[in-house]
Amino acid sequence: MKRKLEGQVALITGASSGIGAGVAKAFALEGASVVINYSSSPDKADKILKEIQSAGGTAITVKADVSSEQEVVDMYKEIFRLWGTVDILVNNAGLQKDAKFHEMSLDEWNRVIGINLTGQFLCAREAIKEFLRRGVVPEKSKAAGKIICMSSVHEVIPWAGHANYASSKGGVMMLMKSIAQEYAPMKIRVNSIGPGAIRTPINHAAWQTPESYQQLLKLIPQKRIGEADDIGGAAVWLASDDSDYVNGITLFVDGGMLLYPGFEDNG
Ligand code: BGC
Repeated sequence: MKRKLEGQVALITGASSGIGAGVAKAFALEGASVVINYSSSPDKADKILKEIQSAGGTAITVKADVSSEQEVVDMYKEIFRLWGTVDILVNNAGLQKDAKFHEMSLDEWNRVIGINLTGQFLCAREAIKEFLRRGVVPEKSKAAGKIICMSSVHEVIPWAGHANYASSKGGVMMLMKSIAQEYAPMKIRVNSIGPGAIRTPINHAAWQTPESYQQLLKLIPQKRIGEADDIGGAAVWLASDDSDYVNGITLFVDGGMLLYPGFEDNG
């Protein structure tokens, strides 16, 4: 059987760890040529590269800070030089800089908005330019290109102590929907994944001790933390023609976190 992403070039931002690394590995197994973008950890990016290669996959690493317009443009130039085009963008790079709102510095605000929201704008803009230039290649996909924005349950759940992060994800939701609407006629599909708590470095504190893990489980009806693989499978589906009629949605992969778990015991 033909693999789901055979022959397609996929750029995954922030792929040196966590969810991005999981998506990169899942895409490579489905036949995509994977660009592992990273900003500050070449060693970690190399480790993911080696894992993909030793499983028979194809990948490269490219350094770029997604909040820098020049670095994003240069990253795409490098991908085009090596592989000619890009078919799939996973706008994944993101971070948290948590603080009480009245103590939040402008730098903490700007950094989170810069990477999580402006970074998604810059990477999506360059991808869409290429999708429009190239159009549909029917042997590869029914779409001219696919973008998956890594959002969060916090695009809808307010989050005290994380106003910068929640605002960035609320912004990602409207960015995703607006460009999905704008480019659907050109056969470009744009969707989001909204992960709940996934076991990655970003939320280490929430699962590292038995006590914190028990606290976390109160928020998750399925009573387990998610793993990067849970997101990898959803991302493959959204990137493949299996979801060709799906456009402008957020697919929440959260073990039920959005189900008001406070009401589990009759409220
Ligand atoms: C955050 C995690 C958090 C999860 C659920 C994610 O978007 O990055 O830190 O555990 O949402 O609250």
